Amino acid sequence: MTTQAARATDGLRITGLVKRFGDRTVVDDLDLTVHPGELVSLLGPSGCGKTTTLRMVAGFLAADGGSIEIEGKDVVGLPPERRPSAMVFQNYALWPHMTVFKNVAYPLRLRRLPKHEVTDRVEHVLGLVNLLHHRDSRPATISGGEQQRAALARALVQEPQLLLLDEPLSNLDAKLRVKVREDIRELQQRLGITTVLVTHDQDEALSMSDRIAVMNGGRIEQVSAPDELYTDPRTEFVAGFVGQLNSLPGRLVGGRLVPEEGLLTGVRPEDVRLIPVDEPGASAAGHAPQDRLRGRVVRVVPRGAFHELVVEVEDRTLHSLAVGQSLPVGQEVYVDLARPLLFRDGRRLQER
Ligand SMILES: Nc1ncnc2c1ncn2[C@@H]1O[C@H](COP(=O)(O)OP(=O)(O)O)[C@@H](O)[C@H]1O
Ligand SMILES: [Mg+2]
Repeated sequence: MTTQAARATDGLRITGLVKRFGDRTVVDDLDLTVHPGELVSLLGPSGCGKTTTLRMVAGFLAADGGSIEIEGKDVVGLPPERRPSAMVFQNYALWPHMTVFKNVAYPLRLRRLPKHEVTDRVEHVLGLVNLLHHRDSRPATISGGEQQRAALARALVQEPQLLLLDEPLSNLDAKLRVKVREDIRELQQRLGITTVLVTHDQDEALSMSDRIAVMNGGRIEQVSAPDELYTDPRTEFVAGFVGQLNSLPGRLVGGRLVPEEGLLTGVRPEDVRLIPVDEPGASAAGHAPQDRLRGRVVRVVPRGAFHELVVEVEDRTLHSLAVGQSLPVGQEVYVDLARPLLFRDGRRLQER
């Protein structure tokens, strides 16, 4: 297959995308490729440029540079309704005076589709999102989760080649959010629809995505599958944003921390192992006692399936996870740090 043919099959290809507001560059030379049928999340802190990127892809905002191709077709310059994409907005943007049916039918009416076709397609998608029983309800009279599904239906009814979701779960309570994210993922996979999901919530991104693009300050720092993002972060920012990270200045030599300019050792909480100093054989395990970090449990936080133990080691605080048996506050412990991640000036050194 030639490069040209391979390119044409991309669901979405963004190259060198730039957006400025005044003298601020909010999206900075961004590249992203989404394969057909894939769900890729744009994950990053508030204000990093996620919504701005999505709005440029949808056509609601003009880019200052770069190209956007959907299914191999350049869409820059086309208005939203002429792009093969549909967007679900963070606040849903349903019309309050229209029924669910009319809201969902709206984009098809704009295209002047015959009435019977509109009815067939709207009823079909209302069935997909389990909302047929609310076809004649107004948005204000249905729940937040149902409004979310109505907004999703209004996007899907357009049979887009590319579905764009901006923080689709942010208005739902915690319990519902977990259910709805499973529903959306199941539907997305069943329909095989190429999707970009914008979120600041790592759990949401990790649980729904084929791949995650971590964004920081208008740039993408890493694009990886969820597991890889956690175990193999390329930057200190990614390591800290996805999952928890203990950051220690310097480098581990034997069991001890040796200061080193510009160098940082990151350790995940599950890799911070605590061995009570009075446990039989504790000092025999690993390094000699004088070569080991030693600390004290200062706080125990129940987290349901596990406990989070806060440990003071010399002048710093580390977080550790204990599944099963916890340790009491005040317990003196040896602290073994497994699988250290090394960073120099924010970038990961490839040794573990
Ligand atoms: N229309 C606008 N005019 C000026 N600044 C804007 C505009 N829209 C967004 N911004 C700024 O651009 C940055 C990125 O915004 P946004 O893309 O909404 O971030 P995110 O969705 O990641 O939270 C923010 O600092 C925001 O204040
Ligand atoms: Mg946003």
